[in-house]
Amino acid sequence: MTTSIIDKDELQKMDPVFGQGSFDNHEQIVFCNDKDTGLKAIIGIHNTVLGPALGGTRMWNYATEWEALNDVLRLSRGMTYKSAITGLDLGGGKAVIIGDAKTQKTPELMLKFGEFVNSLGGKYITAEDVGMKTSDMDLVRTVTPYVTGISESKGGKGNPSPITAYGVYMGMKAAAKYTFGSDGLEGKVIYVQGIGNVGEALVERLSNDGASVFISDINQEKLEEVRDKYGVKIYEGNDLYSENMDIYAPCALGATVNDQTISKLKTKVIAGAANNQLAIELKHGQALRDRGIVWAPDFLINAGGIINVYAEIENYDRQEILRKTENIYNTTLEILNNADTNDITTYQAAFNIAQARIDARKNNK
Ligand SMILES: NC(=O)c1ccc[n+]([C@@H]2O[C@H](COP(=O)([O-])OP(=O)(O)OC[C@H]3O[C@@H](n4cnc5c(N)ncnc54)[C@H](O)[C@@H]3O)[C@@H](O)[C@H]2O)c1
Repeated sequence: MTTSIIDKDELQKMDPVFGQGSFDNHEQIVFCNDKDTGLKAIIGIHNTVLGPALGGTRMWNYATEWEALNDVLRLSRGMTYKSAITGLDLGGGKAVIIGDAKTQKTPELMLKFGEFVNSLGGKYITAEDVGMKTSDMDLVRTVTPYVTGISESKGGKGNPSPITAYGVYMGMKAAAKYTFGSDGLEGKVIYVQGIGNVGEALVERLSNDGASVFISDINQEKLEEVRDKYGVKIYEGNDLYSENMDIYAPCALGATVNDQTISKLKTKVIAGAANNQLAIELKHGQALRDRGIVWAPDFLINAGGIINVYAEIENYDRQEILRKTENIYNTTLEILNNADTNDITTYQAAFNIAQARIDARKNNK
């Protein structure tokens, strides 16, 4: 589509970018197109007050460009608050590549994407997200230094997912402590939705702790593999949200806590890895509070991955990675208690602390 074949007034009515509901004063949005490789990507830079915008690249078969844009806007904003609350000197950014990672990801496409990242001169630093592997980042590294999440053999800290899972586990234990009075997960009924890189590593920890784990995924083969490996149960029903459970761990894609699901939820706690779990943060955060469901903020408890990749920039070692990730337990407890003290949602409690850190830095500049 070119502007010559679309009426200017019509185009304005569509409010293509700045008018999006998920646009939140993002600093920069970069649309990347390459005819030869078929690359169509969007890089979202939400905020760089605390440092360069670091966030992974997601490759997904979006049904529409609007969906892709909406995703990158939401995800990049989430990164700003994730790094801020974790105490990292990083801003928030994210990239999406439109396409099927299984069939359309080629080395040429990834290299071209790397060139686009490079052209931003370090304002955006990428890493892996859904649809990406450490080997993809190694490839991107050959055309730009602005990439993290690369292999240990290439001087990186390797796949961040197991560390993300460790952080989610610590956040879940803190939420259990707050809700049930003990952080032991033995016997707790826990549904893990999405058993990819992070979900599987989380399942391993939960089954080691003696939790009663149910898994769900759209990939049947993977379900059977994980069931056999850890002795957990595959969820066979068709409406996971309405099942009785102690903890719901969303580890697939975002926005699963929404108008349709909230009224059905019987869980007592939500603690998972997926980014942007609440479809509309203020509204659905409040709805969970009204229903007495404890939500461990996603951008707080899934920060293990960014702690791991940040080590590639700041050069801290594995001990420090683990220490910082373990601390998610304390921060989660603080946030849950803070929400009670101030009679606000856990989303708002976490957001306020992150925003205060950004504002303080901005005012000191
Ligand atoms: N990898 C990390 O370090 C990291 C860090 C922070 C946040 N996250 C977030 O955690 C989530 C999982 O990340 P990942 O790296 O494990 O991704 P992944 O692609 O390895 O795994 C995602 C899994 O979810 C499954 N899935 C997709 N749609 C589903 C559905 N409707 N129902 C059930 N399962 C479904 C997929 O089949 C896949 O097995 C994502 O939201 C990601 O943004 C990941």
